[in-house]
Amino acid sequence: YGTSKINEQGRLEIGGADTSELAQTYGTPLYVYDVKDIRNRAEAFKKAFDAESVDYQVAYASKAFSCLAMFQLADELGLSLDVCSGGELYTALEAEFPVERIHFHGNNKTPDELEMAVRAGIGCIVADNFTELTWLMGIAEAEKKIVNVLLRITPGVEAHTHEYISTGQEDSKFGFDLNSGQAKKAIELTLNHDYIHLQGVHSHIGSQIFRSEGFEQAVKEIYRSLAVWKDELGYYPEVLNVGGGFGIRYNKHDEPLPLESYIEPMVTAAREEAAKIGENVPEIWIEPGRALVGEAGTTIYTIGSRKDIPHLRTYLSVDGGMTDNIRPALYQAEYEAVLANKADRACDELVSIAGRCCESGDMLIWDLQLPKSETGDLLAVASTGAYGYAMASNYNRMLRPAVVFVENGEHECVIERESYTDLLRNEHRYSKTAPKAG
Ligand code: LLP
Repeated sequence: YGTSKINEQGRLEIGGADTSELAQTYGTPLYVYDVKDIRNRAEAFKKAFDAESVDYQVAYASKAFSCLAMFQLADELGLSLDVCSGGELYTALEAEFPVERIHFHGNNKTPDELEMAVRAGIGCIVADNFTELTWLMGIAEAEKKIVNVLLRITPGVEAHTHEYISTGQEDSKFGFDLNSGQAKKAIELTLNHDYIHLQGVHSHIGSQIFRSEGFEQAVKEIYRSLAVWKDELGYYPEVLNVGGGFGIRYNKHDEPLPLESYIEPMVTAAREEAAKIGENVPEIWIEPGRALVGEAGTTIYTIGSRKDIPHLRTYLSVDGGMTDNIRPALYQAEYEAVLANKADRACDELVSIAGRCCESGDMLIWDLQLPKSETGDLLAVASTGAYGYAMASNYNRMLRPAVVFVENGEHECVIERESYTDLLRNEHRYSKTAPKAG
């Protein structure tokens, strides 16, 4: 889907922009987004659904990477939007994202956030638990606004992914449990409420999923309950949201399916299950995050210090690390990288890429084959578009990098690099320390 290539100078080019020039212009570390890649992926999702002739929505899971520019792009691409905090919602509203296409998630939305969403006219609230439902009913009533609600349920499906990013199993903090009857109780509670419109059900089984079976299984599990709810409560959803989690390629071991290979089986499963109980297939919603932006992002670092431990390892340190990409430290995620300014040279050296934080665990890549490099060379780490900037921190008082969008040879800064003064923006001196002499 992407547009990167090695140009005649032997340098990595993304979206027609030379990464060495981008580094020169904006400094490093730098997140570079290939906008065409995002466009192509959104199109591919749409094409996969169009081939199925079902009603659908593809909602961008904005937790993967959110900012005004990204929300503008998502809007232009006709995507819906999944937000999971007041902050994401605020950013979306400021980006003038159509509020009726925003879905609000989270296992502990606050009453203030719910009120903000209801007042803004949110597309739907994905209700997660009874506490929230009770608040929401009160707010909807007080505001005299009919609120669309999807019930998030945990279908009891394991996604075969890292345990921190697996969410569909029964023992999960998210959603209403199916087996104990919680979900049914939630439907009973809201079905005839004057200001709640129970639009459908939602499940999300996890992330970085490489097989379609998990989604099919989730659909089947959900339908076992839908059959019962239809019989016992006369309820059948208009919307079935099967969540996100479509895997992407971080390294050579990852083999994501073509997008249609996820969509076709899940829609078929829904269609078959619906037919069994004499119903039409509901609108199918999905909410990919990383599959839309993950591979579109590349982080450019400058290589700084080098440490050779004879017969053991060469550490190359870069000017970023776990503060701009926590995924290796948090999930043992494996990335690949190239020497961006010497991308045409033979890879004849084995190195390990260290971040610059004061933690031994701040390693970005272990055992990477690179051309012989020197201080000042540029390292481009691929597939950092999702949960990179989004999970960036100021640990060690590092500054969050800038973000640049590139397309057709043009580049544009969409998030400025933080400055030292930004670090102190919310700080106050303590008044009870002795004044400095002089
Ligand atoms: N929908 C819901 C309800 C979710 O909780 C998530 C991710 C998504 C959609 C999007 O998942 P995706 O398509 O991006 O895999 N920080 C972790 C991932 C945590 C994901 C949390 N929820 C990582 O860096 O892998």
